[in-house]
Amino acid sequence: MKLVQCTSTGQDGWLGLRQALWPEGVPAEHIAEMQFFLDHPGRFFQLVAYEGDNQPAGFVEAALRGDYVNGTDSSLVAFLEGLYVAPGYRRMGIGTLLIAAVIAWAKACHCTELASDALLDNEGSQAMHRALGFTETERVVFFRKLIP
Ligand SMILES: CC(C)(COP(=O)(O)OP(=O)(O)OC[C@H]1O[C@@H](n2cnc3c(N)ncnc32)[C@H](O)[C@@H]1OP(=O)(O)O)[C@@H](O)C(=O)NCCC(=O)NCCS
Repeated sequence: MKLVQCTSTGQDGWLGLRQALWPEGVPAEHIAEMQFFLDHPGRFFQLVAYEGDNQPAGFVEAALRGDYVNGTDSSLVAFLEGLYVAPGYRRMGIGTLLIAAVIAWAKACHCTELASDALLDNEGSQAMHRALGFTETERVVFFRKLIP
């Protein structure tokens, strides 16, 4: 297994893995967002994990957040923005290694907290967070109202 930091939007597997995690976005939207991250390397960190013969197996994206992050006490907080391991590569420790790399990056950025979130029905993700030492802080409900 090898972890590679993304340095271009053409990083092998990055777009495809992103689309698998967030299928609602069209490729152009993904690429614009990826380019924004690359243009702000002090704020964003992204890695692709490769297995075997350079098969893209997973990715992680993290950011430094200066606005309030639910359940945290410090600022800047490192936030796990996206984490995905392709189904054939799960339960092999890849998610663990991707998060370990994010923690090393966050430490280098002088952060003392790594925050994250998961949908209420995503029990696999919640189990992984707990297994890796995250503690649950808050549950929130989002609302919106259209303004005519
Ligand atoms: C969540 C996800 C990233 C985990 O990646 P992974 O590489 O399989 O995780 P790891 O192999 O490092 O798992 C570490 C530990 O977390 C726990 N864990 C991971 N996935 C789990 C699951 N589906 N159910 C229960 N526990 C789980 C286990 O304790 C596991 O250790 P073990 O395999 O020795 O029992 C992966 O399942 C995934 O991409 N899911 C879909 C996308 C997603 O939910 N992303 C997170 C959004 S917040």
